[in-house]
Amino acid sequence: MKALILSGGRGTRLRPLTYTGAKQLVPVANKPILWYGIEEMVAAGITDIGIIISPETGAEVQAKTGNGEKFGAKITYIVQEEPAGLAHAVKVALPFLGDSPFLMYLGDNLIQQGDLSYFLHKFTEEPQSALILLRQVPNPSAFGVAEVDHTGRVLQLIEKPKNPPSNLALVGVYFFSPVIHHAIANIKPSARGELEITDAIQYLIDEQKPVTACQLEGWWLDTGKKDDLLEANRLILDTYLKSSIVGDVDDQSNVSGRVQIGKQSQLINCTVRGPVVIGHNCYLENCFVGPYTSIADNTTLIDTDLEHSVVLEGAKVAGIHQRIIDSVIGQRAQLTVAPRRPKALRFMIGDDCQIELT
Ligand code: G1P
Repeated sequence: MKALILSGGRGTRLRPLTYTGAKQLVPVANKPILWYGIEEMVAAGITDIGIIISPETGAEVQAKTGNGEKFGAKITYIVQEEPAGLAHAVKVALPFLGDSPFLMYLGDNLIQQGDLSYFLHKFTEEPQSALILLRQVPNPSAFGVAEVDHTGRVLQLIEKPKNPPSNLALVGVYFFSPVIHHAIANIKPSARGELEITDAIQYLIDEQKPVTACQLEGWWLDTGKKDDLLEANRLILDTYLKSSIVGDVDDQSNVSGRVQIGKQSQLINCTVRGPVVIGHNCYLENCFVGPYTSIADNTTLIDTDLEHSVVLEGAKVAGIHQRIIDSVIGQRAQLTVAPRRPKALRFMIGDDCQIELT
């Protein structure tokens, strides 16, 4: 059994963060989203992993993630020259996949820990051409959608339908036998010009090949957008964070709940209410850090109240006298108070940023 993680694409829904990096490397609880998937695979016993990368962000994914040693896996990188669809990515990966059955995992998806082992077992216990995971969602038009009969048999799969036949979305985690390559060779690009994996699975269904659908009971997040990213951050902190305080916390500070503070970080006169993770080499003075907040390495926060937010590496926030909530602050971004008169708001805002002022 091999695994194929898709970590290409342009990440347009997560701009501006994705102008400077891969969406799969955006951190959730201070760890790249992509790494959760790798760790889950290794835990399920799959260690031969191919990662599809794009020419734009591939080098960064490769540099950060490495050859797999730190995960106990062997990672092979495969470049997909253009984002021509999920089924196209499988086509490009054929030399790596050979005739092995494989797990395909979209690198910006997160599913509850342990679920992968469960479904892998279901896939391998009886011969089948594909096993797909479905989950009820409030906005099915944003996903691949399944129509199933009362026995749970899949009748039809449609990619991003305007009039969805159900609220069952295709989760970005699929198990395939090598027969999927034959299906991919027989499908045509969709209206958006991509070779859709949804169409390839539909081809298998039309050919009467056994396709099993399982409903995912645990949580699933497609971290493609800001609010999904914040929700993923909340869930991961809520479920997995363990307390560990390595950095310096002075006597004036008050830290409660589950909180992680990395080495060489310093907290002066701060109140921190977990779950909160603060990385290495951060400086926090006169701050309130509320639940569900992740602060990456090398950040500076002074006179700032912050909660339910994600602050990326090297950012600086100082002297903002209103509480910041539900926010994602990008790498090296600076949010400070104007040092000079006239008192005014001064911005240098990158493309596609969203700023809400009261
Ligand atoms: C892809 C698939 C879609 C699936 C979704 C899950 O969509 O095409 O069928 O429901 O992932 O995350 P994309 O996120 O590429 O638009």
